[in-house]
Amino acid sequence: MGRAEGKTVIVTGAARGMGRAIGHRLVEEGANVIFADMNAEGANEAAAAAAEVGPGQATGMPVDVRNREQTKALVDEAVSKWGRLDVMFNNAGVNKPEKFLETTEENWQFIMDVNALGVMLGMQEAIKQMLKQDKVNGIRGKIINTGSIVGRDGMDPNVAPYSVSKFGVFALTQMGAREFSGEGITVNSFAPGVVATELWEVLDGQLVDLGIGEKKGDPMRMFSENILMGRVATPDDITGTTTFLASSESDYMTGQTLMIDGGMVLD
Ligand SMILES: NC(=O)c1ccc[n+]([C@@H]2O[C@H](COP(=O)([O-])OP(=O)(O)OC[C@H]3O[C@@H](n4cnc5c(N)ncnc54)[C@H](O)[C@@H]3O)[C@@H](O)[C@H]2O)c1
Repeated sequence: MGRAEGKTVIVTGAARGMGRAIGHRLVEEGANVIFADMNAEGANEAAAAAAEVGPGQATGMPVDVRNREQTKALVDEAVSKWGRLDVMFNNAGVNKPEKFLETTEENWQFIMDVNALGVMLGMQEAIKQMLKQDKVNGIRGKIINTGSIVGRDGMDPNVAPYSVSKFGVFALTQMGAREFSGEGITVNSFAPGVVATELWEVLDGQLVDLGIGEKKGDPMRMFSENILMGRVATPDDITGTTTFLASSESDYMTGQTLMIDGGMVLD
């Protein structure tokens, strides 16, 4: 039996990168998963690839996590397809580095809207549904938010809005846990360090443009020098922990953030 057998899961930002890997692994572990993303084509493609492997089912759906109606539609779709929503991964996120003194209001607003407001809306719409559901072994549902090492330590002044948004994700995680754990809804987050995804691919080039390193690859190498495990992560390094968080094995955990960073920020 899979570790997430029969659970209904939504993953946002699932067209590629970590979200796609998180969803794929959960389908392999028996969950039925909605792969949701602004990139509708990518979401459908990721879902089709997972469904082909099974044993869980998968479907793609477009969503802009900044939009409440679209987020609610995601939750409604999960319930109409599979009867309830067990796990909501608020994973979609964006970044665009700027020097601290040159950080614009526009960039601040864009990043905060996706990374902080998007998580708030995802929590609200998922929790409203979860509150209507029966408990299974004391649990009505689980919220899992994607944080970052820079949400624990303001280590990089070139990503101020991103860092603030991820500190915000941890605040939302703690507040959600305080408000809803008594109702059988757990709220946790995980914090990746440096993961080789398209996000970092783009970020790397943007950091070079800001004068961090001389050529592409330098910023990632510089950021990775202090990883105790001696290498950056791949999305597959993340999915063991995210599957644990989605599974019943983590039922007694709430309000926590698990660092999956190969040893960068030590608790
Ligand atoms: N890659 C890293 O090193 C790293 C480190 C720490 C945290 N994170 C976080 O992990 C999460 C996933 O990152 P990734 O590296 O897989 O990124 P990625 O850029 O590869 O994938 C992000 C996905 O989110 C989608 N997306 C963006 N804005 C959206 C919106 N408004 N609504 C719906 N979907 C939207 C994109 O289309 C994309 O498919 C993000 O929250 C990111 O901040 C990444």
